[in-house]
Parts: sequence; structure tokens; C-alpha cells
Amino acid sequence: MRQAHIVGTGSYLPPRVVTNDDLTRVYGIASDDRWIRTRTGVEQRRFADEGVGTAELGAHAARAALDDAGLDARQIDQIVFCTLSPDKAFPGSGVYLQAMLGIPDDEATFTPCLDVRAQCSGFLYGLHHATAVVRAGMAERVLVVGAEVHSAALDLTTRGRTVASLFGDGAGAVVVGATDDDRGVRDIVLGADGRHADDLSQGVWDMRRRPFVPLDAEGNGRIPPEQLWATMHGQLVFKHAVQRMVDVVNDLCRRNRCAPLDIDLFLFHQANLRIVHAVQNLLELPDDRVLNNIQRYGNTTAATIPLLLDEAVRTGRLTRGMRVATVVFGSGFTWGGALLDW
Ligand code: UT7
Repeated sequence: MRQAHIVGTGSYLPPRVVTNDDLTRVYGIASDDRWIRTRTGVEQRRFADEGVGTAELGAHAARAALDDAGLDARQIDQIVFCTLSPDKAFPGSGVYLQAMLGIPDDEATFTPCLDVRAQCSGFLYGLHHATAVVRAGMAERVLVVGAEVHSAALDLTTRGRTVASLFGDGAGAVVVGATDDDRGVRDIVLGADGRHADDLSQGVWDMRRRPFVPLDAEGNGRIPPEQLWATMHGQLVFKHAVQRMVDVVNDLCRRNRCAPLDIDLFLFHQANLRIVHAVQNLLELPDDRVLNNIQRYGNTTAATIPLLLDEAVRTGRLTRGMRVATVVFGSGFTWGGALLDW
């Protein structure tokens, strides 16, 4: 039976490292390294330079994934771009990435581009779509990219410290291809609870307002801070994240008749190291089954899973024949889990 599996992985981090101390020293945020490390696990994150957007980070990761798969960009049948920080409100970042990869040419290579808006869960929603179209024979190879530039939309002042200390920029990508081998994406479960849509959101773009950005007497857009920056009910998000991620693992295990310890490696969404530890404890998973990188990159939302996946492959933590689970939770609320035989 035709299966979908990941034939290449790639990732990219912008070079500028911002440590916890830098948040205080460079941006003047009243915080300290100890608070951020103990409450979140984050030690440093990357910030992209001014002028660099999400599509550009994604393009670097996509090139690496294509190289890994031994493919030319024009051999891709579809691009799925997952992000909560698109370069522009519209069009989606997928078309910018497609042009950066040099795909459109005069011989009618006009690869379709789909943007996925499922925030931290975006990559798994994208992988779900890619798996379905590859299995159905509607595509041979789908490029799935998760990329974020958070640094441009963080309130880098003491007022915004709770959110600002968590997030970082980065990108990861995979190529999903067809195989007749008995391996690949075994199962994906997804969920959402729109009752919590405003518990982690950014209100700057609001088409319910007329006009959507309030104007002052001179006709200039004026956006108050509570609309400009992301707002989060941190403790509520934390509790839901732990419960949903545990439920997802149990659901995957029930559907696939296995136990958590039958899974060799877990890649959990990197929102807060305390969330991962709580999930790990509830599922009684030993440390060597869980890979984390939030210490170095912060929360890169839709990029966390493809970044971890690429790191797992590059460092030899994930090798052929292993069973890996990826589990996500984020704004929406949205969540999901995937079980892959590598
Ligand atoms: O990927 C999307 C999903 N997002 C998440 O999963 C995030 C989930 N939530 C969390 O990770 C945690 O709730 C946070 C890390 C965001 C916050 O941690 P917390 O333990 O829930 O802290 P808190 O918001 O209750 O704040 C406790 C105190 C406050 O001071 P007061 O009001 O007690 O005086 C904050 O102002 O810590 C203060 N605080 C800080 N202090 C130093 C908040 N941020 C900082 C900071 N440095 N960076």
C-alpha cells in the first residue's frame, strides 16, 4: 500500500543569538536569566535581522530539506507553508518562498502554495494534508515548511516580558514523498477548541473594526499596545497544553495498539520546558526518549517540530527503523500528534 514518508529534512536558524541577559542588557527588560531559565527552560533564542522575513528563513530550511532529499525545487508538486508570523497579512508566505526557491519559470512550473494557519500546531496540520494527498496519489512530493519570525512582533519592554522571554525565530522543513515500503507516517490526530481562540492571540489585524486599524484625527493608523502585541493567558495555556499533549499520546497509542514506551523518541512542542517535563512525568517517559531544544531556540511555534526533527536526524538520535511521535499544542487552541515509523 502506498505510504507517505519524510524523504528529507532541513532547518535554519538566523545567526543572531539573544541570551536572557541580552533581553535585560540590550532591550532594558526588567527580568533575569534565572527567572527565565527556571520558569521556561529558555537560555537563548535567535532573532532575525531587520529586513529578513519568515519566507526567507523558510527558504533556507527548504533548500536544506530538498538537498537532503536529493531533489530540485521544481520536482515538488505542492508547497505547504505553516506559520503564525507570515511576512504579510496577504498573500501567504508560501508564494514568497516559491519565488525565492526559483521555481516559477517559463516552462509552466507553477507549483501551488498553501498557507496553513494553525499556529504552534501548524506543522502537524500541514503534515496531515501532505500525508493525505501523497497517500491518495494526488501528489508525489510535498514540501512542508514551518517558519516564524517572532522578534518583529514581540513587546521587547518590561510590559511584554512574559511573552517576549519565550519566543524566538527559526525554520524547519520536510519533504513528504511516496513509498511502497512499510514505513512512514502511520497516524495523525488533530484537534481544536475555538472557545479559547482569544486566550493566545494577536489583535492587530481585526476586520471587525471599521477601518481595521483605528485612525487618529490626522488619518494615521493608531494601534494601542494591547492590540499590537500578542496576549496570552499563560497559566491557562500551560494547563491545557499539558492535558492535551498527554491525551494526544494516549490517543495515538490506543489507535495504534501500542504503549508510550513502544515509541522510541518523542518530539514535543517546545513551548516551555516545564510543560514538556510535566507531560513526560505523567506519561512516565525516561529522559532519553525525549528531545528538547527550547534551551537554545526558545519557542519557535510552527517551526519547533521540523527543527527538532532535523536535529534528531543530524545528531543520529533518529535512525531508520525507529518509531517517533511528535506532539503539539498552541493558539486556537489547536493540538495534534503524529506517529511515524522512520
Ligand atoms: O506555544 C504556545 C503556547 N504557549 C505556552 O504554552 C505558554 C504557556 N505558559 C507559560 O509557559 C507560562 O505561563 C509563562 C512562562 C508564560 C509564565 O510563567 P508563570 O509561571 O505562569 O508566570 P506568571 O505569568 O504567573 O507570572 C509570575 C510573575 C509575575 O509577577 P507578579 O505579578 O507575580 O509580580 C510576572 O510579571 O512573574 C513575572 N514575570 C517575569 N519576571 C521576570 C513574567 N515574565 C517575567 C520575566 N522575568 N521574563
